Amino acid sequence: MSHIIVNANRSAGVINKNIYGHFSEHLGRCIYGGLANADGTLRTDVVAALKELHVPVLRWPGGCFADTYHWMDGVGPKAQRKTIVNTNWGGVTEDNAFGTHEFMALCRELGCEPYISGNVGSGTVQEFSDWVEYCNMPGRSPMADLRRKNGQEAPFNVRYWGIGNETWGGGGNMRPEFYADLCRQYSSFLRSYSPDLKPFRIACGASEDDYNWTRRVVESAGRVIDAISLHYYTIPGDNWGVKGSATEFDRDIFYHTLYRTLWMEELIENHSRIIRRFAKGRDIGLAVDEWGTWYDVEPGTNPGFLFQQNTMRDALVAAVNLNIFNNHCDTVIMANIAQMVNVLQAMVLTDGDKLLLTPTYHVFRMYREHQDARQLETYAETRLLGSEAEPVPDLHVSASEGADGTLLVTAVNLSDTDACPAQVLLTGRKAGAVTAETLAGAPAAHNTFAAPDHVHPLPLEVRCTDSGFAAQLPPCSVTAFRVRTE
Ligand code: AHR
Repeated sequence: MSHIIVNANRSAGVINKNIYGHFSEHLGRCIYGGLANADGTLRTDVVAALKELHVPVLRWPGGCFADTYHWMDGVGPKAQRKTIVNTNWGGVTEDNAFGTHEFMALCRELGCEPYISGNVGSGTVQEFSDWVEYCNMPGRSPMADLRRKNGQEAPFNVRYWGIGNETWGGGGNMRPEFYADLCRQYSSFLRSYSPDLKPFRIACGASEDDYNWTRRVVESAGRVIDAISLHYYTIPGDNWGVKGSATEFDRDIFYHTLYRTLWMEELIENHSRIIRRFAKGRDIGLAVDEWGTWYDVEPGTNPGFLFQQNTMRDALVAAVNLNIFNNHCDTVIMANIAQMVNVLQAMVLTDGDKLLLTPTYHVFRMYREHQDARQLETYAETRLLGSEAEPVPDLHVSASEGADGTLLVTAVNLSDTDACPAQVLLTGRKAGAVTAETLAGAPAAHNTFAAPDHVHPLPLEVRCTDSGFAAQLPPCSVTAFRVRTE
């Protein structure tokens, strides 16, 4: 029997709902064929499925694409929009049918906040500042008038702005000192057009453990930003050349993937410490605005499209990362899984008119009540799995308390073979009715267009005890307990 303690008397704070954010890039079939049709209109079946996730925030238009994107190409009559080449992703033609207005329509439909990643790599300060004016100016101005001419009277009120993407690499190959100066400059012209809307400025942060980048940017530009980003992808291979298959892997690779994903916790703790140390008392958050698994593309698909399958291994990766973000809600203010549809660790895969929900989708649905809830301290008694060099705990947990007093306890059983009899001990609250659902299957289990519902959540039997409740967590599973308190 493993014990999990949920202590309602201690909390790291409120879980920012934006931790449950997503990312959509003009990459492969994420936009065209995924979120939208070829003419830029929304794909209603995909959007309807995504609504269930209560998406809080959506990042767009990239990624690497953002640093080649000129927003004016994507507004105005579609027939007159410029056709460009997507030089980052497959060299395909981009006709800009999906631009700012279409993205805002998508956010409106999903009920989420837009997060625009501005072009610092190949754009100008003027272009960036015009985009902000176009989106946010309520009165008369050249850009607001252009927006009206293009059919939108009210401002879009975009709060979240990213100042460049991966500027240390594909976004400009910059040194941190150079980027920090640019960030200061761009930030100065990221104006507020209404007292009710102060733009939230997210600086381009580090990849993985490039702590020097975080330090230099925060040291020099910390005064003019509200958050700094972090990108970390889980790849099972040991280098970017050999990443490994999404569906064909052995036990060692399964545990190696989980070991690699658990590194997220150390990255967050170290970057957060550096931010605190060099922010000179300013409150600067950490936005993990790209994370997720990255495998070799599905055989026979365009290598530039990053289309991969999604298994129970991905469900575990998603659940572990979301638990980590919840437990670090004092510094993680946003996270955006890469990416929403058809690219990397997607929620939804499409094939023509067909659509399937991935195991990762189900995890986001099961975790959605963590959004804006009060995080509760948890402790899990664990056994170590994997190898001596790369140990992985068998249990990974987070918990929160919603405004109505309902607790959500999310527990991952990382063992590929063993069920975990778990006893949850509740401190500071008394459990009333408890229900649970679990997503379980073999590590490589996944949904296909022929069998789209092979992996889906099922109810799990829970037994109430004097001090909490108990359940048998299936091997390789993610479980959500909803606990009414008395
Ligand atoms: O998500 C795919 C790519 O990964 C993004 O475009 C880029 O920012 C990162 O390298």
